[in-house]
Amino acid sequence: MKHEWSSRLTFILAAVGSAVGLGNIWKFPYITGEYGGGVFIFAYLICICLIGLPIMLSEIALGRRGKQSPVNTMLQLSQEAGAPTAWSLLGWSGMAAGCLILSYYSVIAGEVMAYSFRASSGIFNHQTVDGVKGILTSLESEPEKLLAWHTLFMALTILSVARGVKGGIEKTVSFLMPALFVLLLLLVGFAMNSGGFEQAIDFMFTPDIDKFFYARNEMGEYLMDAENEKIFTWVPMMVAMGHAFFTLSLGMGAIMMYGSYLNRHVSIGQMTLIIVVLDTVVALLAGLAIFPLVFANGLNPAAGPGLIFETLPLAFGSMAGGTFIGTLFFVLLFFAALSSAISLIEPTVAWLIESKGIRRIKATVMTGVAVWFIGLATIFSMKGVTFGDIIIDVVGDVELEAGIFKYNLFQVIDFFTASIMLPLGGFFIAIFAGWIMHRDSTEREFSFQNRYVYPAWYIMVRYVSPFLVFMVFLNIIGIFNF
Ligand code: TRP
Repeated sequence: MKHEWSSRLTFILAAVGSAVGLGNIWKFPYITGEYGGGVFIFAYLICICLIGLPIMLSEIALGRRGKQSPVNTMLQLSQEAGAPTAWSLLGWSGMAAGCLILSYYSVIAGEVMAYSFRASSGIFNHQTVDGVKGILTSLESEPEKLLAWHTLFMALTILSVARGVKGGIEKTVSFLMPALFVLLLLLVGFAMNSGGFEQAIDFMFTPDIDKFFYARNEMGEYLMDAENEKIFTWVPMMVAMGHAFFTLSLGMGAIMMYGSYLNRHVSIGQMTLIIVVLDTVVALLAGLAIFPLVFANGLNPAAGPGLIFETLPLAFGSMAGGTFIGTLFFVLLFFAALSSAISLIEPTVAWLIESKGIRRIKATVMTGVAVWFIGLATIFSMKGVTFGDIIIDVVGDVELEAGIFKYNLFQVIDFFTASIMLPLGGFFIAIFAGWIMHRDSTEREFSFQNRYVYPAWYIMVRYVSPFLVFMVFLNIIGIFNF
């Protein structure tokens, strides 16, 4: 018997639970900070509308038609369309991307769990900037601590997924998502009175083209070439597009998987719009909660991945009731991460069950343990991780045309999955939905829709989205620099 969501609301909550996660609250603010604010947000919003929306519609439509894990859905749909079964490769690369993403996602989520306890102990009260930095370093420089939290988070993920779709996912997300929303609003309210709100609005919504298109170092200074000119880079554009995929959980079959549990009589246009709007609102609210505190405390918005572990604690430490709010914030962030983690692992688990006849519990444990191992790479590449006096720097310097960047293994995995594998997966999903599937198969998935939705989607998914993804790709390979 195939599972089906109990109602459309539970589907929305699960899909929003998948979409809203560390990407919105941890990653979005820090990449916005790194790539200069306004123009980055603008580029990201364009990617959401022109690429994210149509591809999410496609994933849900494909999943609902195939009714199986992405690999088998693609197998079935390609046979149905008389196309090569090699299209199922899409499902395979999706499973790989999901496991790779989860491997570092779990390490960060583990840090979030650690911070829930730290916040509740009152350790952030009246901390200085150096104080909160020290608290983060004390966690990241001890691999066995990171490992313990990573293990715990993976165990919890395994536990939820092993309990099945209805038993686990539906129940948790139903109260977590609304709670997260309320809490974010509270935090934004606090941020508005912190004294940095105007600067934050300015930073987030005033375009500064140079900061987006020219390469800068970690200090925010522009890199210069031999002629003392600024160096042009497409990396921020790629990151913006990659993040549109990441934040909407697109490109690896997670939403396809969730679509496969969706009832035939639901309007997928309406569902998609709700999911995308909620996800975007949460990301923008997270920015509005975090950046005012960054500016009010004279911190650097381009601080990178540490933004949420350094700036927010600082704010919690200086506000009335900060211990309580801070604890709640990290706990809810942890739940948001958990509901996303579930969707990263589910396609692989479902495939093992369908194709290998493995029981759900065993399938979940097998996948989870594999992901746990890959996660070790991230733990060892955390800044400052040391064994005795050997500093582990797994990848070290990478020389690019635009200068020398320091990348560690975690950043490499992150870039490779989010900026390359997900857009590539999304590209082929769009091509498949727009060019390979028969029109009447896709049209059927779009019944119960305003009559303009299907033609608009069709044009987007055939031409606009693949073209845009392709253009951004051409630019990375440097074939076409304009
Ligand atoms: N969207 C989640 C976030 O923003 C992460 C996530 C969950 C994800 N499932 C995914 C990313 C599938 C890519 C693909 O935190």
